[in-house]
Amino acid sequence: MFETIDSAPADAILGLTEAFKQDPNPKKINLGVGVYKDGGGQTPVLATVKEAEQRLLRSEETKSYLPIDGLAEYGKLSQQIVFGHEHTILRDARAATVQTPGGTGALRVAADFVRRIFPGATVWLSDPTWPNHPNVFGSAALQVQSYPYFEAETNGVAFDRMMAALETIPAGDVLLLHGCCHNPTGADLSSQQWQAVAALCAERGVLPLLDFAYQGFGDGLDEDASGVRIVADHCREFLVATSYSKNFGLYNERVGALTLVADSVEAADAANSHMKICVRTNYSNPPAHGGQIVAEVLGDPELRQRWEVELAEMRDRINDMRHLFVETLDEQGAGRDFSFIARQRGMFSYSGLTPHQVQALRVRHSVYIVGSGRINVAGMTEANMDYLCEAIADVLK
Ligand code: LMR
Repeated sequence: MFETIDSAPADAILGLTEAFKQDPNPKKINLGVGVYKDGGGQTPVLATVKEAEQRLLRSEETKSYLPIDGLAEYGKLSQQIVFGHEHTILRDARAATVQTPGGTGALRVAADFVRRIFPGATVWLSDPTWPNHPNVFGSAALQVQSYPYFEAETNGVAFDRMMAALETIPAGDVLLLHGCCHNPTGADLSSQQWQAVAALCAERGVLPLLDFAYQGFGDGLDEDASGVRIVADHCREFLVATSYSKNFGLYNERVGALTLVADSVEAADAANSHMKICVRTNYSNPPAHGGQIVAEVLGDPELRQRWEVELAEMRDRINDMRHLFVETLDEQGAGRDFSFIARQRGMFSYSGLTPHQVQALRVRHSVYIVGSGRINVAGMTEANMDYLCEAIADVLK
């Protein structure tokens, strides 16, 4: 039976890493997958993560299953970091959180939950968006549509066109919004724009689903949560998919969470019972280790404070690289205004390079970026900057 199967295309992002590994060029640079590199080009284990692991090694007494929805403490701490400690949602117990294998796992549980409860709902995605979004929702047999988001002329949000499209979304559909650090463009909504989008969702009865994978990588933990919190001010019901891959550097531990906010504690409990069925029928219950690390760090004021310093170092380095990239492109005679990159936030920016130029970068210079022209700024270092910008200037000629 298997002889008739044709190969599927490589993943638009993770497939690049496979090709990168095979490339013998010692100068090769991988700016495809969203993984943070320090100044030495490494993706380090954070010192606070190591410390938490040492504590766990000493204190852990069992490897027995976690509950279907994961560690209760982890869920509580995840809600606190998203909404802030004193938020009324927490006080009123209107939120339910399931621990998931990464942010992608959270999105898939959200997709299965929506399909289970609202089978006719369409999920609306920004154009462009993370290339895995349509696959995750499509795999859950949901309809997917897109709304305009990015404007190449200004390298910013096409807000008027976005709002015009959102005004046509029927009640009961799901609107996926990037909580901060939009992937792939790096262009985020302003506070005023968040207000308008959140008010529209509340008015029209559209369910916001916030993909919130980069908290702390833009301007700060609370600053980056401002969009999510504006949604919370306007909408009584919404979903948030969070990830600790980036801000804790816990990529391969697969640590994420899906938080559902309902109008009442009873509604949150009932919805949670269905989220748990989605988990049980998919991966049964989450892996423990990554969630335990996060709970250990966030639950200890001293460790948490040290983690926030480590997070700020990562954020500052990314923002420094944004400036250096713009300056070096200019020095190398790229001949285009790239200053918008310094104004954007998060790991990614849309470079504006065409698929042909992206291919030339890879073939001629062993520089790997996503076919859409998305560049992972967090993978740049002072050491690879000259080579990178020379290569980009070359393909722009
Ligand atoms: C990315 O967009 O590169 C990251 O979110 C990693 C992934 O899983 O694609």
